[in-house]
Amino acid sequence: MKALVLAGGSGTRLRPITHTLAKQLVPVANKPVLFYGLEAIAAAGIEEVGVVVGATHASITEAVGDGSAFGLRITYLPQSSPLGLAHGVLIAREYLGDDDFVMYLGDNFIVGGITGLVDGFRRDRPDAHIMLTRVSDPRQFGVAELDARGRVVDLVEKPQEPKSDLALVGVYLFSAAVHDAVARLTPSRRGELEITDAIRSMLRSGLKVRSSLVSGYWKDTGSVADMLEVNRLVLESVEARFDGTVDEHSELIGPVVVSHGAVIERSRIVGPAVIGQDAHVLDSIIGPNTSIADKCRVFGSEIQHSIILPRASLEGVRCVESSLIGQDVAVTAAPGVRGTHRLVLGDHSKVRIDV
Ligand code: G1P
Repeated sequence: MKALVLAGGSGTRLRPITHTLAKQLVPVANKPVLFYGLEAIAAAGIEEVGVVVGATHASITEAVGDGSAFGLRITYLPQSSPLGLAHGVLIAREYLGDDDFVMYLGDNFIVGGITGLVDGFRRDRPDAHIMLTRVSDPRQFGVAELDARGRVVDLVEKPQEPKSDLALVGVYLFSAAVHDAVARLTPSRRGELEITDAIRSMLRSGLKVRSSLVSGYWKDTGSVADMLEVNRLVLESVEARFDGTVDEHSELIGPVVVSHGAVIERSRIVGPAVIGQDAHVLDSIIGPNTSIADKCRVFGSEIQHSIILPRASLEGVRCVESSLIGQDVAVTAAPGVRGTHRLVLGDHSKVRIDV
């Protein structure tokens, strides 16, 4: 069995972060989202992985390399433009050959991994196995309709009037039978080749399409709120570790990771929280639910429920919460006239100020 990881999308909802960083590389608890997926694939005993890459291919290739760090052999499959999930399968046709494969969307996050799912597929050999989860707004997803016995009877991509609240999760298992269905597809209303349509046509041809409800939690990490939520969830299971330096005037409460080279002085860190390598925290209050990446500086500041990317700095700013702060960003107090703000913001930045 092989894996096909789709890491081509552009991540418009996470701009400006995604102007310089592939959305699959945005960190959760200081580790790129994509790495959790690759680790889950390796844990399921799969070694051959095709990674579909698009405009952000350089950053993905740099971060993931040949896959040996994960125990995987990775082949990059360039996609000229994001023409849909099924288009990813189409361009991977030769790479996949006649093997079964798991298709994993690089920005999806599944707690608990996929080992049970992959084992079940190997055992029962259906033609497709989809994972479903209950969502509050199914119109944003592919939606499955099940009969009274729990069998999939229909699938519709982003329906206006959903027949259920069961959304397709971005992990799918296929036999080689999917290729015929993909080859017959025509672009949907949004101009993409939809994998949902391919599975629907497999269903109509009488092929075996199975489903299971996701027992663990999952999120499509396409938006800032989702990212913060996934970050919170992953931090919940971190175990305290101190590899850095914490002075006697500082206090660490609950599960806090202080990475190698990090320095904490005269500060309070409320876990769950992770402080990255060579980060410097001084006269500050951090957490809970906060990830501070490598080489960040937090001086005289307060931040909670947030993600800060490498080399960003906060100086003299209070009450920062629910924020996603990009690489090399500097947030400082405005000197001079009180009550004023001085902003230098990149394209598509979003700032909320208490006025
Ligand atoms: C895609 C699929 C959709 C699925 C979702 C899961 O949506 O088309 O069926 O529910 O991934 O993340 P998209 O991310 O392209 O909007």
